[in-house]
Amino acid sequence: MKLLVIGSGGREHALVWKLAQSPHVTQLWCAPGNAGIAQERLAKNSAPVECVNLGAEDLPKLLAFAQEKKVELTVVGPDNPLALGIVDLFQKNDLRIWGPNRKAAQFESSKVFSQHFMEKYGIPTAKAGTFSDAAQAKKFAASLDGKCAVKADGLALGKGVLICTSAAEANKAIDEILVSKAFGTAGANIVIQEYLEGMEISLHAICDGKTAKLFPTSQDHKRALDGDKGLNTGGMGTYSPTPFLTDAQLADTGRKIFEPFMRGCATERIDFRGILYPGIMLTKSGPKVLEFNARFGDPETQVYLTRLENDLVELLDASVNGTLDKIELKWKAEASVCVVMASGGYPGSYAKGKPILGLDAANALPNTKVFHAGTALKDGQIVTNGGRVLGVTALGKDLKSAQAVAYAAVEKVHFDGAHFRRDIAAKAMWRITSAGPSTPQTGVAREF
Ligand code: AMP
Ligand code: GLY
Repeated sequence: MKLLVIGSGGREHALVWKLAQSPHVTQLWCAPGNAGIAQERLAKNSAPVECVNLGAEDLPKLLAFAQEKKVELTVVGPDNPLALGIVDLFQKNDLRIWGPNRKAAQFESSKVFSQHFMEKYGIPTAKAGTFSDAAQAKKFAASLDGKCAVKADGLALGKGVLICTSAAEANKAIDEILVSKAFGTAGANIVIQEYLEGMEISLHAICDGKTAKLFPTSQDHKRALDGDKGLNTGGMGTYSPTPFLTDAQLADTGRKIFEPFMRGCATERIDFRGILYPGIMLTKSGPKVLEFNARFGDPETQVYLTRLENDLVELLDASVNGTLDKIELKWKAEASVCVVMASGGYPGSYAKGKPILGLDAANALPNTKVFHAGTALKDGQIVTNGGRVLGVTALGKDLKSAQAVAYAAVEKVHFDGAHFRRDIAAKAMWRITSAGPSTPQTGVAREF
C-alpha cells in the first residue's frame, strides 16, 4: 500500500516510524517531514521514506501529489489541514484519507461548538458561557470572581487560552481577545470556563463514526520549566500509563465522555473518524473535559505508538472503513516516557541551525527511539530547525526504568542551547510511592 503522511513534527515522525513497520506498506511519503523522518526505512522492502517539500496546509498541491502518486491512504497529523477540510477535499476526489472531516474537526477548530455540544449531550465539563459581547463576558467572569479560563473560539497556534485569577485579569483577557482582536477572527467569539483545579491528563480514542476505542491514559507537561513553571508550550514531555486512574476509573471516565459523544455525533450527523483527544482535569467532583482535540497529541503520540502492538495501518484502515469493532487494541505492558529537547528560548524566540550531536549513541540505548520534530539536514549534518527539536522516548518495565533510560539517552544528545525538563513523569513517581503501584491499563476492553 502507498501511504502519504502529512505534517512535520514529532507526532508525524512517530506515525511514520510505526507505519513503516507494517508489512502492508510498500511506499511512504511525508509532506513536508523532517530530517528524522527522512532516515526511516520500510520493514517490507527497506525502501526509504521520502520527504516531499509540500506544506501541510497546501491542500491543492497535496491533492495533486496524492493523485499523481496514486496514494492509497493519506494520514493527517496536524489540526490545521483538518480544519481547512482536507478530508472532504480528498474524499470528493475519491482518495482515501484518515482523519475527521471538516464538520467533525470542529470539535477542535471551534471551542464554542465543543462547549455547546458538551452541554447539550451531558459530557462532564467546566461551568461555562460563550460570548461575542465584552460587557456580557465580563459580567459572567465577575460571577466566577475572575477565576476562569478565557478561550478564543478558533485555532490560535495553541495560544488562545488565557488563565485568569482575578476580575481585573479576566477583563484584560476579554478585551485582548474580543476588542483588540489579539487572535484575529479566531477570537470573534470566546468561551469562558470556570477555573478547574486538579491533575490534568490526556485521553485518546480512535473512532470510526460508530465505535470509539479508548487508549490508556497519558500525561503531557505543558509548561516550559520544571515543577510546571514558566510559559505554556506545545508539550515538553509525556508518559503512559498514568497512575491517577485505575482501570475501572478509566472505563468509567471513558463511558461518561465517549458514550454521550458518540450519541451526540449520531444525532447531529457528525461522522467522526479519527482520534478524539479530550484534555481532562481530574477534579474533586470527578473528571471534566477542558477541551477536545481532533487529532493525535504531540508528544502523546510518541508514548502511545511505542506502546501500541497493533499494526497501525490496519487500525487506521478500520477507522476509515467503519470496522473498528472487529479490532482489539493491544498495548505493551511496558511504560513509555518521552522527554522533549527544545531550542533555548522556546516557546519564545530561538535560534535555528545548531548542529545536533549524539543521536546515534542515544538511539543505540535499549528500547530507545529519538523522534525528530524541528530538525533539518544541512550540508550533511542534522541541525535544529524549530522550537521543539527532539522527543527522546524510551520503554521500560515500569515508569521508573523508562524514565531512567529516556534521561540517559537525553544526556547523550547535544546541541547549543538545548533545553529540557528534568521532571517528566515525576508526578507519577510521587503518586506511585505514596499510593502503591500504578495499574498497567492494558488488556481491558474499552469500547463505546
Ligand atoms: P486548552 O487548549 O483548552 O486545553 O487549554 C490549554 C491549557 O489551559 C490546558 O491544558 C489547561 O492546562 C489550561 N486550562 C484550560 N481550561 C482550563 C480550565 N477551565 N481550568 C483550568 N485550567 C484550564
Ligand atoms: N500535547 C498537546 C497537544 O497535542 O495539543
